[in-house]
Amino acid sequence: MARVPILAGNWKMNCTLPESEALAGELYKEIGQLDDREVIIAPTTPALTAVARQIDGSGYKLSAQDLHWEDSGAFTGEVSGPMLVAAGCSHVIIGHSERRQYFGETDGRVALKVKAALRHKLTPIVCVGETLEERESGETLAVIERQVRGGLDGLDANSIAGLVLAYEPVWAIGTGKVATPQQAQEVHASIRSLVAELANAEVAAGCRILYGGSVKPENVDILMSQEDIDGALVGGASLKAADFARIVRFQS
Ligand code: PGA
Repeated sequence: MARVPILAGNWKMNCTLPESEALAGELYKEIGQLDDREVIIAPTTPALTAVARQIDGSGYKLSAQDLHWEDSGAFTGEVSGPMLVAAGCSHVIIGHSERRQYFGETDGRVALKVKAALRHKLTPIVCVGETLEERESGETLAVIERQVRGGLDGLDANSIAGLVLAYEPVWAIGTGKVATPQQAQEVHASIRSLVAELANAEVAAGCRILYGGSVKPENVDILMSQEDIDGALVGGASLKAADFARIVRFQS
């Protein structure tokens, strides 16, 4: 089964509203319309509606960077699924390592958020990844397995078919240190086998697994040539229109 590649730009806490509009406009100028790959942009929450307008008709998808698992209520500072849908989002990043590292995100919360996203027909982009210490002590695959099992806890095969996974080694995020294609492929293949166990072989074969961590124009082609790498989740390089455009136009 052919898996349509996904190239997603996570802008993190960057760009004011006017800067976000300008960047989205520039991206469209550089990339144009593409029908053989999916382009996803994840700006900050205050810029979602404006970016939605800016990319209207481009075919690009809009993603939020996080959500709360409740639909509404007394949760100061949080944003819910229905709010993201109303702002024009079709996707939401969940369990990014920066949320896990700085904001106490746990696998249990990731699971609640994944269910909330699916309930509102938002496609979750569920992130997993090991720290340098975990890699060096040979725990990578065990950590990834724990995070995938934890984040997908309680989901049936149908629900698992509706999500995207992203492998982002913490030591490669924003550091300029990219995983080797072999390191990434090894983890992606193990994630796919785990999806086969948690759902079934068909869901695993169709599941898009993105790589993230210092993806740049110079390394995207080799990463994308790996059998189990179906796309990229890009931080730093997604803030430069020309670089992100080159990443979107990867050749493998
Ligand atoms: P980076 O970030 O491309 O800047 O390493 C990736 C991510 O955190 O999604």
